[in-house]
Amino acid sequence: MQLTFKTLDDVDYIGKRILIRVDMNCSVDPKTKTITDSSRIEAIRKTLEELSQSKVVLMAHQGSPGSDDFISLEQHTKILRKLGFNATFVDDIFGDKAKEAISKVKDGEILVLQNVRYFEGELKKAPPEEVAKEAIVQELYPLFDLFVNDAFGAAHRSQASIVGFTTVLPSVAGRLVEKEIRTLTEATDTERHPWTLVLGGSKVEDKVVILGKLLATGRVDHAVLGGLVGTLFLIADGKIPDKYSAPIKGFENAVSSARELIVKYSDTILLPEDAAVEHEGNRVDCEFSDMNGDPFLDIGPRTAVKYAELIKKSAVVFANGPMGYFEKEVFASGTEVALQAIADCKGVTVVGGGHMGAMANKMQLESEITHISTGGGATINFLTGKKLDLVLALEEAAKRM
Ligand code: 3PG
Repeated sequence: MQLTFKTLDDVDYIGKRILIRVDMNCSVDPKTKTITDSSRIEAIRKTLEELSQSKVVLMAHQGSPGSDDFISLEQHTKILRKLGFNATFVDDIFGDKAKEAISKVKDGEILVLQNVRYFEGELKKAPPEEVAKEAIVQELYPLFDLFVNDAFGAAHRSQASIVGFTTVLPSVAGRLVEKEIRTLTEATDTERHPWTLVLGGSKVEDKVVILGKLLATGRVDHAVLGGLVGTLFLIADGKIPDKYSAPIKGFENAVSSARELIVKYSDTILLPEDAAVEHEGNRVDCEFSDMNGDPFLDIGPRTAVKYAELIKKSAVVFANGPMGYFEKEVFASGTEVALQAIADCKGVTVVGGGHMGAMANKMQLESEITHISTGGGATINFLTGKKLDLVLALEEAAKRM
């Protein structure tokens, strides 16, 4: 397969000062704030190993303002050390402290900068030339010879650290981005049906938009929904009352689009038919009419069985986002049933996103799934056929190089 951007094969990197944007956005225990799965850190290993004779500085995000997992990158650095890398952390992104630490990095060393989303300018989404004006780009780029983008998970975000540096530095893809693009292109280059989308988790505003785009391609035969996305659609469809919207960030912006999609794609979209709620600390499986206002934390067992049957019979399955609040073990079963069905499916199966990927690894299903992608939103965007912002930026950089 011919790539449309440059990779590490196209540049000299030994002894060079290299800025790498990675996605090591990990699952974090909401109470203890500790990382519970480090597979996204392990996924960047190949790139880091290859650059072991360069002066490497890593830039990454973890969570976003207001989320439970919005934490410092200090723990990530410790995990990198456990993986055998000579990594240190600096609690700064582009200020004097960061610049001094960057100037001291030697060949074979890795410096991890603080969470880029601690800087407000990183949250802005705009075309590359515009986000390149942000201080993070202007302050950092003169300190480097090369920019490597290996942040596949954030490839759909047109933010400064993803697409800004490509306008001012020679820029190439890291090995993970290269592998994801190659594998996803091969895995999805098929017209086989039935094609099933399993969509759950949070980030509902993003997911409603992308679900609309994906359904408009005509590629999807069944879209089975769970997690907070499922809750949103159940409220939009009048199946459960509005009060269940409380945990859904962005509900107001997403609910009318969800309603439109239900009307337009009533044969394709499948919603949960029963629920699991938390009552006095326990899981209670029940009908919607018996939820009594208790937190709705998983799809119910009847829904799980129905979804599993559909998944197993599919020719292509793509899954992103858990079916319930899987961080609490008793509410993980909807997600586990869906993942087991994906593993049992004989078709092409792709599981994307930090949470589903982590769970698939925990269940040791890696060898039974065609591809476990580090991208969630990035991978669904890829499936719509639209080029990812990261790829477009690297293509432009390649033309300039
Ligand atoms: C992800 O978890 O999908 C990526 O790390 C991107 O995170 P974001 O959706 O917060 O931009």
